[in-house]
Amino acid sequence: MGLNSIFDEKGVDGILVTDEYNFHYLSGFGGEGILFITKDSKNLITDSRYTIDAKASAGKKGYEVWEYSRDNTVFDILTDLIAQENVKTIGFEDLNIKYSSYKKYTEKFRTIEFKEIGDAIESLRMVKTDEEIELLAMAEKIGDMAFKDILPMIKPGISELSLAAEIEYAMKRNGAEGFSFDTIVAAGEGGASPHHVPGEYILKDGDFVTMDFGCIYKGYCSDMTRTVVIGKPTDEQVKVYNTVLKAQLAALDALKPGVTGKSVDKIARDIISEAGYGEYFGHGLGHSVGLFIHEEPRLSPAENRELAPGNIVTVEPGIYIEGFGGVRIEDMVVITKDGYRNLASSPKELLEV
Ligand code: GLY
Ligand code: MN
Ligand code: MN
Repeated sequence: MGLNSIFDEKGVDGILVTDEYNFHYLSGFGGEGILFITKDSKNLITDSRYTIDAKASAGKKGYEVWEYSRDNTVFDILTDLIAQENVKTIGFEDLNIKYSSYKKYTEKFRTIEFKEIGDAIESLRMVKTDEEIELLAMAEKIGDMAFKDILPMIKPGISELSLAAEIEYAMKRNGAEGFSFDTIVAAGEGGASPHHVPGEYILKDGDFVTMDFGCIYKGYCSDMTRTVVIGKPTDEQVKVYNTVLKAQLAALDALKPGVTGKSVDKIARDIISEAGYGEYFGHGLGHSVGLFIHEEPRLSPAENRELAPGNIVTVEPGIYIEGFGGVRIEDMVVITKDGYRNLASSPKELLEV
C-alpha cells in the first residue's frame, strides 16, 4: 500500500497534506509548508524562509517547490494547480487540519468536493523502511550514550531540573539535533506521576530516580526510560523494580510479527497484577515512534492490530504509587521477520548509584 492507493480508496484526485509529520515523511523536507499531490504531480508550497532547503530535499523525491508570498498566495498557487490537473475532489487530513484552515479552503474552492482521508497517510508510516530504522537506531543509541555519561552525576544534592539539563546536554554532545519530548526526571515521591515535570526537588538517599528521555536524529525520535535507586533499596523497592523488569522482559519476549498489541500489553499487565500492583499501572504498554514521538501501532488493551516487520514499538511498563514513588523501564525496538531487535542497550538491572 502506497500513497497512490489513497486516490482510489478515498475517491479523490488530489490530496492536501497539512500535518507537519506527514509533510516531512512524504517530501523528505523537515521545514514548514503544505503538499498538494495528484496522480501526476507532487507539489510543495512554502515561503522564502524554506525554498532553497525544500528544493534540495523534496526536489530529490520529485516534488516541485512553489514559493508563496503576499502577491502569490497559497490559494493562487492551488488555483492554478487545480485547473492544470483538472482536479474535482480533494482529500484532506481531517484529523490534522485547523478548523479555520478547513473553512478557508472550502470557501475558496466552492466547486471542489473535499473528502476526509482520516489516518491514510499515518498508516503508511507504520512500517519503517530500512533507512528509517537505522536513523531510529542511531537516535536510540545517542540515548544510550547519554545515559552512560550522566550516570555518575545521579547523586544526592543534584536537582531534578539540573539532572534533566545534563541528560539533554549529553544527548546533544552525542549528536542529537533536538529532543523528542520534554525530558522527564522524577525522583522520590515525584516518581508516582508517570509524566512528572522535573522541578527543584533535590535528590536524596533512598530515592528512586526515573529518567525518560529521547532525542531527534535526522528528524527521527528516540525514547527510553531507566530508573535507578540512590543508595541501598528497601525490600519493597526491590520488589516493585523487579516486577516492572519481569513484565518488561516477558513482553519483549513475546514480540514478533502476527501478535496483537493487545496480547503483548496483557502479558506485562498480568505480571504486574499478579504481583499485586495492577492498579498502579495506568497507561498502555507502548507506542510506535518515528518522525513523531507517539505513532501507531500501540501496545495497549485497545490495540487489535497485529505487529508486522518494520514496526517500531516502545515497551514501557511501570508501577506508580502515590507517596512511594515509581519505576518505569522503557526500550524502543523494531519488529523483525521472526522477532524483534532491541535498539536500546543500557543496563536494566537495578543500579544503585
Ligand atoms: N515520555 C514519552 C513516552 O515515553 O511515551
Ligand atoms: Mn519515554
Ligand atoms: Mn514512550
